[in-house]
Amino acid sequence: MVEKKIQRRIITLRAEIRKHNYQYHVLNAPLISDYEYDRLMRELQALESEHPELITPDSPTHRVGGEVAEGFVRVSHPVPILSLSSAHSDDEVRAWFERIAKLDERVRDANFTVEPKLDGLTVVLHYENGVFTRGTTRGDGEVGEDITSGLKTVRSLPLHIPVIASGPKPPPRLVVRGEAIIYLDDFQKLNEELEAAGERIYVNPRNTASGALRQFDTSLTASRPIRLLCYDIVDSDGPVPQEQWEALLYLKALGFPVPSDITLEADLDGALNRYQDWIGRRDSLPYEVDGIVVKLNDLQLARELGVVGKDPRGAIAYKFPAQVVTTCLEDIGLNVGRTGVVTPFAILEPVEVGGVTVRQATLHNFDFIHEKDIRIGDRVLIKRAGDVIPYVIGPVVEARTGEESSYRIPDRCPSCGELLERIEGEVAIYCVNAACPAQLVRNIEHFASRGAMDIEGLGIKVAHLLVEGRLVNDVADLYSLDEEVLSGLEGFADKRAQNLIESIQASRSQPLSRLLTALGIRNVGEAAAGDLASQFKNLTLLSEVGLDELEEVEGIGPKVARTIIDWFAQPSNIRILKKLHKAEVWPEVTEPKEREVERVLAGLTFVLTGTLPSLTRAEAKELILLHGGNVTGNVSRRTDYLVAGESSGSKLTRAQELDIPVIDELQLKALIE
Ligand code: IVH
Repeated sequence: MVEKKIQRRIITLRAEIRKHNYQYHVLNAPLISDYEYDRLMRELQALESEHPELITPDSPTHRVGGEVAEGFVRVSHPVPILSLSSAHSDDEVRAWFERIAKLDERVRDANFTVEPKLDGLTVVLHYENGVFTRGTTRGDGEVGEDITSGLKTVRSLPLHIPVIASGPKPPPRLVVRGEAIIYLDDFQKLNEELEAAGERIYVNPRNTASGALRQFDTSLTASRPIRLLCYDIVDSDGPVPQEQWEALLYLKALGFPVPSDITLEADLDGALNRYQDWIGRRDSLPYEVDGIVVKLNDLQLARELGVVGKDPRGAIAYKFPAQVVTTCLEDIGLNVGRTGVVTPFAILEPVEVGGVTVRQATLHNFDFIHEKDIRIGDRVLIKRAGDVIPYVIGPVVEARTGEESSYRIPDRCPSCGELLERIEGEVAIYCVNAACPAQLVRNIEHFASRGAMDIEGLGIKVAHLLVEGRLVNDVADLYSLDEEVLSGLEGFADKRAQNLIESIQASRSQPLSRLLTALGIRNVGEAAAGDLASQFKNLTLLSEVGLDELEEVEGIGPKVARTIIDWFAQPSNIRILKKLHKAEVWPEVTEPKEREVERVLAGLTFVLTGTLPSLTRAEAKELILLHGGNVTGNVSRRTDYLVAGESSGSKLTRAQELDIPVIDELQLKALIE
């Protein structure tokens, strides 16, 4: 009798897990959290180990998880691409240690590496004679999908190894495993750009990376900020390190990106202490990490210990506590962005996630609410990752009582009450009222932000006060504020008012490129603003330019050119420009006078790549042009220097291939001093 009940439970669990595997790996649309998935899997594993007679060869416990999507070439892996068993407490990690120490006493004296467990898309990279020849997904662990062309667009992926000429010589065939991820700040920036362009925003970095790499259109893949981090040598036909720590250093020396926070621990206690450090830093990590991986450093010993199902005995994932919880969706609020785009957010029954009380969460866009059929009153799954805003994953349909109500997309702006518009072909809904106070607050916040006019002390709260108190009607009004008016505002003691006025005044000397960024013209980011400034020298010239002339500017495509023309045609914007001119906020790019700036870089061609420590790309370009140098977009034999910052990708590889000197920001500055 008991047998029958258990058998039924096993069958149900297998069906559930298969469904979730498919949702997660093939459709990229998980229905439950990793934590809940793990729970199902662990229950099944426990039942199967108690009743081995009920094990079937097709049980999900025998698979890594993941089906191969139709359409990509299927590639057999050279060796199985294994998974990891996981633990959720120190006790479980100690139990793992005891299990393997019983199998081999050498484990008791072993040391361990501790690595982040990266939450991205697992990739398997093949190199032949140092050349990247093929990259695949993990698929089901035996067969993956060939995503070589998409991977080639990932800038941190070395197309040749060693990347550094002095690096070790790799064996003729080397297969490396890594994780394709998107850093949290890149993810946020990407979504902001998509939102500003009226396009659909992404739900989370993992699915974005995975979806982008499984695109047939690799130009889309290339436009996504995917990065790679490697952690394993899967296979090789020559000597490679036999210790995991050495293997990580070796991969790094070959030029592979390797996580920077890896450690070597003398014993298990060391690894458990490290876990506590990671928990403490969890919210400040640059990418999503769902735990740590503790690995036996001795790879030979690890191999000898073998595998259980698809999990190697020599390593274990120690997961962080769940950061997914369910709570009640009490209402849906609306946010009005700088460009007028209206986005919904969840107002939640307060709930604790990872030590923080969450009251609000992103709902992405109105289509998301509709597609997931999210209703007010629903219990919803909330995820919190890093310090990004928590987001709603979807409703818990089983928890419905019938009291929930469907949501109607608003037709009026929550701030100004004007009718909202949906622009053809875009998912976003806009408030097109130029005088909408909510947009003005966002515009001021943007105008004053760091990459723009950099007005210290003018964040969203102060912007709110200024708009609410009707002290400013547009960004130009900032320059007619004085201490007396400001000191009437709540919380503005004399000193604070004086400081703000001083920073506003100081912003007058920002260069034209900054003012252009600050004006918040759609699609005109820092790079485009820099290009426009060096071409047109002042706002008078730029406001008179025609579409054709704009399109000829390097870096300005037809879409951006159109938005610029439209922006300068808007009467409300012209009013702002007139006011800025009158207030003498009218920077000009002056031609360098021979006496003042020596054209020391005349005849030299530079290419810029990566993030420089203090200059933006546009500023570095301006600096080079000012000193008579030339800047182009691509590395070729005609390039004299590559100026490389952090996370430089293919341009760096190319420069090294062509033996072109690579310099950093300091060296660039040294050239012109
Ligand atoms: S080691 C034998 N190390 O986590 C090697 N895996 O279920 C087994 N993952 O998708 C994997 N970071 O790809 C290893 N530092 C790391 C990892 C890592 C992320 C992924 C792995 C797999 C999942 C394990």
